[in-house]
Amino acid sequence: MKLLAINGSPRKDWNTAQLLQKVVEGAASCGAEMELVHLVDLTFSGCVSCFGCKRIGGVSYGRCAIRDELTPLLQKAHEADFLVLGTPFYFSTETAQMRAFQERLWFQYYLYSKIKDPLSPRKKATALIYTMNIHEVDMEEYGKTNIVKRAKMIMERLFAPCEVLLSCNTKQFNNYDNYETDIFDVSEKLKRHEEIFPKELEQAYQLGMKLVR
Ligand SMILES: Cc1cc2nc3c(=O)[nH]c(=O)nc-3n(C[C@H](O)[C@H](O)[C@H](O)COP(=O)(O)O)c2cc1C
Repeated sequence: MKLLAINGSPRKDWNTAQLLQKVVEGAASCGAEMELVHLVDLTFSGCVSCFGCKRIGGVSYGRCAIRDELTPLLQKAHEADFLVLGTPFYFSTETAQMRAFQERLWFQYYLYSKIKDPLSPRKKATALIYTMNIHEVDMEEYGKTNIVKRAKMIMERLFAPCEVLLSCNTKQFNNYDNYETDIFDVSEKLKRHEEIFPKELEQAYQLGMKLVR
């Protein structure tokens, strides 16, 4: 049983990556194989509308036809038993890296059909992790609730039930004095990082265990 976790943050050891790391540790504690991949390490594009994945009888039917550094990762995602996507919100949506990945992952399986099932390989338990500066209560106002709902709906349509873990009001800088940040209550943010973020890391660990059990 293999869990694949994908980090859409360009930062490889900050909030999103730390939460994903806990998910893979939780999965590993139950004996699952796991891998954490940082999209920032790969050079790839989003979907280019070639429709190779949709062409009936074509060699790439149901699979992304683009050949680039994402190709082996899409294959791993295809084969994984559990799939976890983590991303910060950038301007109220996923990062460019995660969006490009999602376009390629999702569209290859998606069919313009009311009667046929998507071409995704098999049921796999999935999860989405979103990190963000804003507080949870402000997510609706900034359109983030809908983004999470949409991604969850697509993951459930293509794969299987999808868990969601949100980490809000995250710590963004090591030293806030070096940046103009007067829109934030920095002391509240740092307090939250000390008190709440460790609990979210624990939730992520539990999530890893839950997914693979
Ligand atoms: C380009 C950019 C855009 C961002 N846009 C938003 C946003 O729209 N809403 C928000 O709550 N946070 C936003 N943030 C903050 C990040 O979502 C937040 O700091 C996140 O936890 C960063 O994840 P990381 O620590 O894993 O890199 C933005 C950060 C950057 C760099």
